[in-house]
Amino acid sequence: MRKQEQILTEYKEFCAAEGNQHIASEYAVIKLQDIIDSFGVENILEIGLGIGAIAGSLLPVNEHLKYAGTEDNEFCLDALKTNLGEKYRKVEVFSELSEVPQIKFDLIIIDGKDPDLAKIQQLVTQHGIIAIEGDRIPQQEMLRKYFPGQKYVHSISIKKNAAYSPFPQGQWKGGLKIIFVNPNLHQTIWWLREKVFTKLKYLYRKLR
Ligand SMILES: C[S@@+](CC[C@H](N)C(=O)[O-])C[C@H]1O[C@@H](n2cnc3c(N)ncnc32)[C@H](O)[C@@H]1O
Repeated sequence: MRKQEQILTEYKEFCAAEGNQHIASEYAVIKLQDIIDSFGVENILEIGLGIGAIAGSLLPVNEHLKYAGTEDNEFCLDALKTNLGEKYRKVEVFSELSEVPQIKFDLIIIDGKDPDLAKIQQLVTQHGIIAIEGDRIPQQEMLRKYFPGQKYVHSISIKKNAAYSPFPQGQWKGGLKIIFVNPNLHQTIWWLREKVFTKLKYLYRKLR
């Protein structure tokens, strides 16, 4: 089975799970895999593990990944154990960012709130990437200010939500905001390409 198909098979389980109304979008999950493959991501920190849709979809196809995350909601903490099953032992769960030890992560996913967002500056690798799921404008602005040399792109989908999705079918499949905190050449080229794609996709969406 192709990697993307396998991710989708896992993701669909979360679409049908209890508490599915806050899961990450399908587009975001697939784009995160693109980032993992493109930049050789080895360890991930996810702020807001929720019911585990991102971790549960990505872990089965990325055996090498070290995965940590934060969650403090009781319902989600229980759902994580149930939904991740065997994969649960691969995820290090902390209640909030202040409890995460001072190790460096290649990719930090922001899909929840945390009062200590500034700590991300100490937790991201030199050429690390921050990916924001959903709008989260205040967090996006704060994070971009922390990294003066950053490059930012909002990658968007041109497909509408599928019938199995918990989100309205008439709406676009979502997006992912990507911040390269200190981009190297490879990342700058990727970023530029993605910026062009985003412009074209907005044009396409307008015409639809
Ligand atoms: C957008 S959700 C995180 C979703 C997660 N990344 C996923 O894809 O499954 C953000 C926060 O909302 C809270 N949350 C998510 N689902 C919830 C639910 N069904 N009931 C109550 N709180 C929920 C959790 O605290 C979570 O960290």
